[in-house]
Amino acid sequence: MSRHAGTSIPRALGLAALGFAAGTAILLVIIPAWNGRAAASQGATAAAPTGGMAQMDHSAMEHSAPAAQKSAVDAPAKHVPFDPSLPAVGKGSLHSYTITLKDRTFAIADGVQYTGWTFDGSAPGPVIHVRQGDTVKVTLKNGGAIPHSIDFHAARVAPNVAFRSVDPGKSITFSFKANDPGVFMYHCGTPPVLMHIANGMYGAIVVDPRHPLPRADLSYVLVSSEWYLAGDGKSKPAAIDYNKARHMEPDYVTFNGYANQYKDRPLTALPGQRVRFYVVDAGPSLDTDFHVVGTLFDRVYPSGHASEALRGVQTWSVPAGGGAIFDTHFDTKGIYPVVSHSFASVDMGELALVKVGNVPGTMSH
Ligand code: CU
Ligand code: CU
Repeated sequence: MSRHAGTSIPRALGLAALGFAAGTAILLVIIPAWNGRAAASQGATAAAPTGGMAQMDHSAMEHSAPAAQKSAVDAPAKHVPFDPSLPAVGKGSLHSYTITLKDRTFAIADGVQYTGWTFDGSAPGPVIHVRQGDTVKVTLKNGGAIPHSIDFHAARVAPNVAFRSVDPGKSITFSFKANDPGVFMYHCGTPPVLMHIANGMYGAIVVDPRHPLPRADLSYVLVSSEWYLAGDGKSKPAAIDYNKARHMEPDYVTFNGYANQYKDRPLTALPGQRVRFYVVDAGPSLDTDFHVVGTLFDRVYPSGHASEALRGVQTWSVPAGGGAIFDTHFDTKGIYPVVSHSFASVDMGELALVKVGNVPGTMSH
């Protein structure tokens, strides 16, 4: 996707060059990069002017996919870790995004390749971040082989018009006012929707409330989703097993598209910091019973409204097609697992770790 010219930080962050087999030494390089961006995002968000009608044309900065993701369909694709930090909001109140549908082969777990459909080359697609009241202008270009569409849960528009399917080689443009705050799913709504979501066509949009939430020190975006595989994806890329999808029997359940992605590359925080998770459950079919082992949520915002927070919550379910915002803090140094407390999902890869303070190791739950 094209990003804000002033705030664009390529998702790859140069991580592609580091390869998939990142060891502890490399982690030390990666983690500050994520934290740096998370902190920068927060700063930029706080400092960004409100109001003003100047258009920021995101297409000025075409997102450059790393070489590893441009490989042919049957060549193994190296995993580029999905940057979990919330990107900054761009300037102005009109945000234009160009998103291109791409058929891709990518990694969904260690040594496991999958051929699917993506918004801009990754599953999930790019994280979009705007303010309540802003206008979001979306252009979807279909660079794939069959019709696709894009459906924003943050929008109040006629879906038969805005969310209609686009033929290969064609594009569609529509705008909506992001009048409802929160974190929302977007996805392809072309039938069968089960197949299009299960094949990788989803992402998250964050709409900051007009009356802001308390300032967070770190903000992370986690999109939960399932993968249903025909084949094991090891000797050749797997494709969707539609029967498994219909029976809701996934092979992998992931945060940000890749099993155990933040187990070997933990998220980080310091004791006492307010850490915010923007969680979307893309499904297509399972819920995420969001829980952090070793702490509680100080606040859960089931809607994005600051005035509607729940307090002192252990676990909160994010339904398929839903989203919620979670604030927590960690009292002491250590390694804290982030899970769906529906533990079958953890067994299939839905696990992240938060490394709090300078502690050794990346032990799992
Ligand atoms: Cu689609
Ligand atoms: Cu939907």
